[in-house]
Amino acid sequence: MKFFIDTANLDQIREAHDLGILDGVTTNPSLMAKEGITGQENVINHYKAICDIVEDNVSAEVIATTFDEIVKEGEALAALNPKIVVKVPMIKDGVKAIKYFSSKGIKTNCTLIFSAGQALLAAKAGATYVSPFLGRLDDISSDGLALIEDIRTIFDNYGYETQILAASIRGPLHIVNCAKLGADVITAPLAAIAGLLKHPLTDSGLATFLADHAKAAGK
Ligand code: G3P
Repeated sequence: MKFFIDTANLDQIREAHDLGILDGVTTNPSLMAKEGITGQENVINHYKAICDIVEDNVSAEVIATTFDEIVKEGEALAALNPKIVVKVPMIKDGVKAIKYFSSKGIKTNCTLIFSAGQALLAAKAGATYVSPFLGRLDDISSDGLALIEDIRTIFDNYGYETQILAASIRGPLHIVNCAKLGADVITAPLAAIAGLLKHPLTDSGLATFLADHAKAAGK
């Protein structure tokens, strides 16, 4: 399973990359705004800076919502770096644009997926990734993980190569459950990824090992 970090914060991207487990980065307009990145030139430069840190898979989201504008913006983003994956919203013109990008060999991530039907449409259009938002479904008492399971079943039934990129991850257990269900990728905040490290028995076990070693060495 691939690990992406869901942030536009360069320090956090570097930290996850330094851990040696990072396969990519996802951003969205809200995450860019959170870092204070505004204006076309700054946004473009920020994507370039992210591409300089990671080896591949940098999702850059279009702001446009009409076919012609999505294509124009997406092609400009894709031209920045071969690592760029054009992130396109699950709307009618977005699906048409994904089909177009797919025919041109431009990688896409169809975002704001909240149903299996939406994921099926995006796969039919040739999306490289679909991003079901499981945390936001959980937030409204819907079962986000059940959506991941449904999409896995559908893609496996027909051999779709579109990868399931589980997004809107809230914590380490979401990551583990996505792995159990066969998600191809998770994208998560750094805290959720770091949460996978933790277990109280690891901490107490290590403390005992170190104390026993010190005692045996007569320290
Ligand atoms: O980047 C898309 C998605 O991961 C957003 O997550 O936490 O805003 O629901 P969240």
